[in-house]
Amino acid sequence: PLTARTNNSGHLEIGGCDVVTLVQQFGSPLYILDEESLRTACRQYRDSFQNYYKGESQVLYASKAWNCLAVCAIVASEGLGIDVASGGELYTALTAGVTPDKIYFHSNNKSREELIYASESGCTIVVDNWYELSLLVELGKNNSSESSVPIRIMLRLTPGIDCHTHEYIRTGQLDSKFGFDPNHLDELFEEINKHKSILNCVGLHAHIGSQIFERQPHRDLAQLMVKWLQNANSKGLNITELNLGGGLGITYIESDDPPSIEEWVKPICEAIEETCNTQNLPLPKLLCEPGRSLIGTTCVTAYTVGSSKKIPGIRTYIAVDGGMSDNPRPITYQSVYRAVIANKMSAPITETVTIAGKHCESGDVLIKDATLPTTEPGDILVVMGTGAYNYSMASNYNRLPRSAAVLVELGEANLILRRETYQDLVRQDCLPEKLS
Ligand code: LLP
Repeated sequence: PLTARTNNSGHLEIGGCDVVTLVQQFGSPLYILDEESLRTACRQYRDSFQNYYKGESQVLYASKAWNCLAVCAIVASEGLGIDVASGGELYTALTAGVTPDKIYFHSNNKSREELIYASESGCTIVVDNWYELSLLVELGKNNSSESSVPIRIMLRLTPGIDCHTHEYIRTGQLDSKFGFDPNHLDELFEEINKHKSILNCVGLHAHIGSQIFERQPHRDLAQLMVKWLQNANSKGLNITELNLGGGLGITYIESDDPPSIEEWVKPICEAIEETCNTQNLPLPKLLCEPGRSLIGTTCVTAYTVGSSKKIPGIRTYIAVDGGMSDNPRPITYQSVYRAVIANKMSAPITETVTIAGKHCESGDVLIKDATLPTTEPGDILVVMGTGAYNYSMASNYNRLPRSAAVLVELGEANLILRRETYQDLVRQDCLPEKLS
């Protein structure tokens, strides 16, 4: 959990830093990332696998949740590997110093250039589909000198396991754009077998969805994946790794009650061990790739309150200086968040208001019916739990410069993302000569 408390001035303090002071120093909106809680979450994952699994394990951070140099470096320093979902995420992870043997590359439509980049970098490619497989075989053939090493791959399969989460972030059911159809495993394994000199297929992967609170779907997945492994190896493959994806949900509002990291990991380990023991199989190396549950609750976003509008008998809008450009989740998935006023932590709760962003769009609302102390312009409103899929999905809608981010720990704040300037906004613009 966040290292947060109310200090003597009645202000919210995170990582020993007064949030009001941080905003004075770095401006708003401001992402504030609590280093200690991120490191704690990394260790909880790592230690849970070490405690509950007898075989080898490797936790990967699904960096799509928040990919930048500092986050990759912190996570890697805790011994985690990194899941990247594009050439850009791969570039960032490599630039942060993550070693390629701990990087796994996903995507349902990797380009030829991305595949070349990934295979040359030496990371593991999680192959999603037949087209990608054919591209890799072609790349491998073009590059088949005596000294060339086979490309290290895993295969992503669609498990056909449904779970209760928003339809946009559900991926396990058969009707999904991701992964090989499990009804064609025989052909798939045969094809892989034909290209052993080009492709070193070490593992199988599946991901069933995100923000999941139930534990049964991952237990079912674990059993299913051991069956796949057995099937693959009976056809001549040498699968030694299983990657069960991410998906553990987090608490955004008080009523959310997800399992703890430990409670999520334990049954997965048990299911793999039980199934392997029954089938007399050696334990595979177990991987998982959480994103949200590693970083989601470790960050908050601080905004400055500006205008308000009271519609008698209906609602009061309080507007902040960011919105759907720094946190697109409410408008995209109807996600719910909670907020506090950083400079009024000890003040009584007096009003129910709707927190609006500043974008030219009615749907740009961060929180409906937030209960807060009486707010006024200049107050610092802090939305909790914005570590996952906020910065990584941020945009420049309405040409708002992207927000800055600071890393806080033991009373020290370090900039990890510089705030964009207006000059940054036009940096990639081109004005053809005939228009200037
Ligand atoms: N592995 C794969 C292959 C994934 O596709 C994902 C998430 C993860 C791991 C990490 O899942 P997590 O542990 O974070 O649930 N933008 C949406 C979430 C999209 C998730 C995409 N894939 C949101 O803001 O809720």
